[in-house]
Amino acid sequence: MCPGSRQNLRAGGAVSESKPQVVLGVSGGIAAYKACELLRRLTESGHDVRVVPTASALHFVGAATWSALSGNPVSAEVWDDVHEVPHVRIGQTADLVVVAPATADTLAKAAHGLAGDLLTNTLLTARCPVVFAPAMHTEMWEHPATQENVATLRRRGAVVIEPAVGRLTGVDTGKGRLPDPGEIFEVCRRVLARGVTAPDLAGRHVVVSAGGTREPLDPVRFLGNRSSGKQGYALARTAAARGARVTLVAANTGLPDPAGVDVVPVGTAVQLREAVLKAAADADAVVMAAAVADFRPAAYAEGKIKKREGKEPEPVALVRNPDVLAELSADRARPGQVVVGFAAETDDVLANGRDKLRRKGCDLLVVNEVGERRTFGSEENEAVVLGADGSETPVPHGPKEALADTVWDLVVPRLA
Ligand code: CTP
Repeated sequence: MCPGSRQNLRAGGAVSESKPQVVLGVSGGIAAYKACELLRRLTESGHDVRVVPTASALHFVGAATWSALSGNPVSAEVWDDVHEVPHVRIGQTADLVVVAPATADTLAKAAHGLAGDLLTNTLLTARCPVVFAPAMHTEMWEHPATQENVATLRRRGAVVIEPAVGRLTGVDTGKGRLPDPGEIFEVCRRVLARGVTAPDLAGRHVVVSAGGTREPLDPVRFLGNRSSGKQGYALARTAAARGARVTLVAANTGLPDPAGVDVVPVGTAVQLREAVLKAAADADAVVMAAAVADFRPAAYAEGKIKKREGKEPEPVALVRNPDVLAELSADRARPGQVVVGFAAETDDVLANGRDKLRRKGCDLLVVNEVGERRTFGSEENEAVVLGADGSETPVPHGPKEALADTVWDLVVPRLA
């Protein structure tokens, strides 16, 4: 197979090798210009993209731009090229439809099955996964009409990405901003890879902790660890692409916010505990991928600790931090809440993992070996997921996203 191509399983079982067919629906909001970047990423990664703008979207970005960037004809109407029956053909042959930006109007039309233009016809005929990336003013997003339309679309299996918080058109700021196009692309990539039209985490709230806590000694120094946060971010991204509402408690990561994920930045173990427990109150599952410091300095020096000529340095006294995973497991915020831990081990990996699973009381424990060149900061991981029920699921060396998907595959059947 050439790069970017894949085997398409079509009706009747016939197998064809071709580029994945993506429909990029663009509706009429100022964020339409950002869809050009999404289009570029999709085409450059080997997808055949057909752009279907609404008539309003063409006020913001013209057909010539969409056509030049996609290499395909562009129309908003059902009356162009009628002999090719585009109002059904484009949706029928798509492997993925992504609407970015999705305005309140387009969400409403999609939720109610209206079919007045090419995009809404395409949405009705598509039998592939559908992703909406809404963008609008905060008031419009929060309006019960929009929220009910979003709930309807999610119930039917669409992935509706939560808008980002930030600067909107004009001087306003708030929730309603189109997430970064690179992050929308990541959601599309994940959804396309799984190819399922019924996301199995739809309607679920999951909490993921990521990164490593820093325990300050003085205003310029801290005790920290080498966790990059990439595994936790992969868990958040994959959960969002499987339809979940995701809260990501991120300790000192510096990574870009995944699209549709509510990111809560924290610094120390105590702050992480507070943020995780708060978010866990209504969560269906909590995954503790963060490297939480077991100890913190007993005292914090308000001023920088100085060298003292001719004197040995003072030893640093440490105190225990709360064990968030053990606390979450022992005192579940909801009946049936699934709690997952991670164990980073250097020796006797499986034996230590089994012991840790018992001590922490969680449902699943992802055990991986760490060391100088293993796991930290890398894009790949290798692990064994131990279940409290005695199960053992090895995950071969591969992308952190693959491990993340395996974790969710194991979480889903355990959800109440
Ligand atoms: N963890 C936690 N709170 C802590 C320490 C760890 O919630 N204070 C969580 C981590 O997020 C991870 C799991 O516990 O999911 C295991 O962390 P690890 O550091 O491997 O285990 P420890 O409890 O530190 O055990 P040990 O030091 O004996 O290896």
